[in-house]
Amino acid sequence: MARIGSDIKHVIELLNRNQLVGIPTETVYGLAGNAFNANAVAKIFEVKDRPSFDPLIVHAPDLNRVGEFVEEIPEKARELARSFWPGPLTLIFKKKQIIPDLVTSGLQTVAVRIPNHPFTLKVLESIDFPLAAPSANPFGYVSPTKAEHVDKQLGDKIPYVLDGGDCSVGIESTIVSFEEGDTTILRIGGCKIESIEKIVGKVKIKPYSNSNPMAPGMMDSHYSPLTPFEVGNLNVLIEKYKGKNIGILSFDKYYEYVEKSHHFVLSEKSDLSEAATRLFTGLRHLDNLNLQLIVSEYVPDEGLGRAINDRLKRAEAKRN
Ligand code: TXA
Ligand code: MG
Repeated sequence: MARIGSDIKHVIELLNRNQLVGIPTETVYGLAGNAFNANAVAKIFEVKDRPSFDPLIVHAPDLNRVGEFVEEIPEKARELARSFWPGPLTLIFKKKQIIPDLVTSGLQTVAVRIPNHPFTLKVLESIDFPLAAPSANPFGYVSPTKAEHVDKQLGDKIPYVLDGGDCSVGIESTIVSFEEGDTTILRIGGCKIESIEKIVGKVKIKPYSNSNPMAPGMMDSHYSPLTPFEVGNLNVLIEKYKGKNIGILSFDKYYEYVEKSHHFVLSEKSDLSEAATRLFTGLRHLDNLNLQLIVSEYVPDEGLGRAINDRLKRAEAKRN
C-alpha cells in the first residue's frame, strides 16, 4: 500500500523525480505526474491501465503558467477562466510543443484545469512543470473521492497519496472546447451548464459516444461498478427484482424493501450538490457488498443533477 498523508514536501520531491502521486482536487482524486516528461506520463497510462488513445488533463496553478504550454486563450475561454478557476472546469486549447504527444493522445489540443484544493495548488506552485492527472481509478471504474479509494485500488503501484480529505464537489470537471467559434460542452461535470451559459451565452452539448474521436475517453461504459446496475423507476425495479439480493441507490427517499446497509440515499434533504459529493462513495459502497444487482433512479435533471444523471447513465451502460 502507498503511504497516505499530508507531507507536501515529500510529494514535491517525488514529482521532481518523475514519480506518480495521488492528489486531492475538489472534483475527484487525480493520479499525477510531470506533464512535460514523457516517462512520467507513460507511467500514468500503465498504472491506470488506460488505453493510450484517451488523453489526459493538465493541471496548472494559474493562468500565466497555462500560457507556457498553450498557444492561445480565446476570449470566451478567458471569461470562463476568470469566473470559474480555480474550479471544476476544464478548457481545451491548442497545445505548444512542450506538451508530449502522449499527454494528448496525438491531438493538437490539450485539456487544462486549475483545480481548487489548497494542498494541490501549493504543490503546483512549488514545481516547475504542470501535472498531468486523470482520475485516480483503474480505467473504466468509479472515480475516487477519498484518499482511501486511491490507496485501495492503486496503492501498490504508487509511492504516496496526498490526503486532502473528501472531495467537495465529488464529480469530475465539466469539459469545454472552443472549436470553430462554438462553445461546446464535451463532458457534463461539476461546473453547472447554467452557470457557464450566464457567462458566454448558449452552448452546444456534444453527446458522448464510443465513437467520438474528439474525446475518446468519454465512452458509454465509464464510471461502472462491477455489479450489474440498472436505472429507472425504483418502485418498478424493486418489484421486478423481488427475491434477488439487490442494493438501492436512491436520490432522497428510503424504500422499505432492503436492509438499511444495502440502501444508499444520496441526499435526504434533496440537495443536488450533496448528492454529487456522495455519488461515487455510494456506488463503491454498494459495489463492495457482493450483490446480484444495484438499482437506481435519475435525479432532477438540472444543475449538478445533469452531471449525476450522465454518470448514472454511463454506469448502467453494459460492459463488454
Ligand atoms: O475533474 C477532473 O477533470 C479530474 C481531476 C483529477 O482533475 N480528472 C479527470 O480526468 O476526470 P480523466 O482522465 O478521468 O478524464 C479526462 C477526460 C477524458 O475523457 C479525455 O477524453 C478528455 O478529458 N480529454 C483530455 N484531453 C482532451 C482533448 N484534447 N480534447 C478533448 N477531450 C480531452
Ligand atoms: Mg476518469
